[in-house]
Amino acid sequence: MPGPDFSLSDDDLRRLRSSLEGYTVDAVVEAIGDQGQAALGRNHTLAAQRALRGRDDPVATLTRLFILQDAVSDEAVRRALPLDALQSSGILVRDGDEWHARVDIRPYASPDDGADGWLVSDHAATLDTARGAPRPDHVLGVSPASTTLAQLTIRTPVERALDLGTGCGVQSLHLAKHAQSIVATDLNPRALQLARLGLRLSGVDAALRQGSLYEPADAGPYDLIVTNPPFVMSPPSTSRFTYRESDVAADGLMQAVVTGGTRRLTQGGVLQVLGNWAHQAGEPWEERLAGWVAGSGCDALVIQREVLDPYEYIEIWLADAGLAGTPGYMSAYEAWLDYFDHLGISAVGMGWVTLVNAGRDVPDVRVEEWTHAVEQPVGPALAAHFGAVGAARWSDEKVLGHAWRLTSDVVQETLGPPGAEDPSHIVLRQQRGLRRAVEVDTALGGTLGACDGDLTLREILGAVAQLLDVPISDLVADVLPRVRRLIADAWFELD
Ligand SMILES: C[S@@+](CC[C@H](N)C(=O)[O-])C[C@H]1O[C@@H](n2cnc3c(N)ncnc32)[C@H](O)[C@@H]1O
Repeated sequence: MPGPDFSLSDDDLRRLRSSLEGYTVDAVVEAIGDQGQAALGRNHTLAAQRALRGRDDPVATLTRLFILQDAVSDEAVRRALPLDALQSSGILVRDGDEWHARVDIRPYASPDDGADGWLVSDHAATLDTARGAPRPDHVLGVSPASTTLAQLTIRTPVERALDLGTGCGVQSLHLAKHAQSIVATDLNPRALQLARLGLRLSGVDAALRQGSLYEPADAGPYDLIVTNPPFVMSPPSTSRFTYRESDVAADGLMQAVVTGGTRRLTQGGVLQVLGNWAHQAGEPWEERLAGWVAGSGCDALVIQREVLDPYEYIEIWLADAGLAGTPGYMSAYEAWLDYFDHLGISAVGMGWVTLVNAGRDVPDVRVEEWTHAVEQPVGPALAAHFGAVGAARWSDEKVLGHAWRLTSDVVQETLGPPGAEDPSHIVLRQQRGLRRAVEVDTALGGTLGACDGDLTLREILGAVAQLLDVPISDLVADVLPRVRRLIADAWFELD
């Protein structure tokens, strides 16, 4: 028998929406306290439950029902919600004299771009150390990966955006702030039911389509595609969860998302993917990833943020599946390790792929590891990189003839033994964006130190060459390629 589809008439939606009016992120945090909020982040409810004791106002009732998964009295529910509508849609289900919510409905608000509303998802399966495995079509709520993807998204105003694998619809909530139209897809029909409810409650208009990868997304093209697809690389023998894994071996699904996306971008269109990739013996991961975008004409910036060895990786996802502490744990662990051995996977990289359809014969493809903390949201820094790629490719004449100005956030750090006259290392560091650092020698340090927008690079190099008593041509050959790299890394103002 099919389950409820959680749909509401326009009238019932308005009634629910008006009941949720005071159920905001601030109101919930105020009710459960910072510690309650932090404990919920660790999947524990007790701190919040204790904070709510003695309260039966609507915010407390909604928090108990929809976030803490508690049963709530008939009387309290009737005071807080249009019970008839929620019962007939299947959102609330009677349990004796009390009511349970079948789904999680919670307020959402992002300080980064002002996206806000309510999102509907399945209840977390592992709340309060419960070992319940999620249902195979479990719809994830907002996860750390959702937030990271939202923060790395380049938020230039666009006409058409695609939210591939929308889940509870959180990326669409953000896209609505800067995209004129949104197509949101998912393989999982339950995800689309819950996303539909959340987006309707939030007043966001998105075309929701069911199907795999780009199949339901029409030919596009799109100005922006964002996705954190089900990237978990698990053996076919494990029970599968649509939110995290697919039937494609290793990182084949990630590859399909990337290569398929390159063919659906407008000129200048952007594809942003958060995911995993395999490190396999015999081929450096950088080359594999660069191979995914080869021939697409897209500029690319792939940033590996973390690398996990197979054991760490598998333990995380076994726990996520609710298997920790169960009798099948060790055999599932072993089977997963055998699968990795079979595929030659020696480690798993996690990170961000951003592509811009630059339409170049020889695009700028950068694949690198950067594991240090970055300024969030990092989207503007990624946009700055792609905005600077063109200038980094100017002719030597043009680069040398330009009066470069370092961005104002760059600071210098010196390292050396206490009391030493000269530092042994000089590092320049960006305080913003990707917070990159570069170690400089006297030639590069002296050059960059003079880049304040007054003198051209040629004039500066001339002066530095004199100071160091080296031929200017040697200095240009040494410093110019390094300056180009810094231009692409957005170390200079580009007016
Ligand atoms: C990790 S969740 C991400 C959800 C959401 N985008 C977010 O940021 O939280 C991955 C989503 O992709 C969906 N999905 C799984 N396989 C898919 C496929 N082949 N095509 C499209 N979506 C798929 C899942 O149902 C799930 O909703």
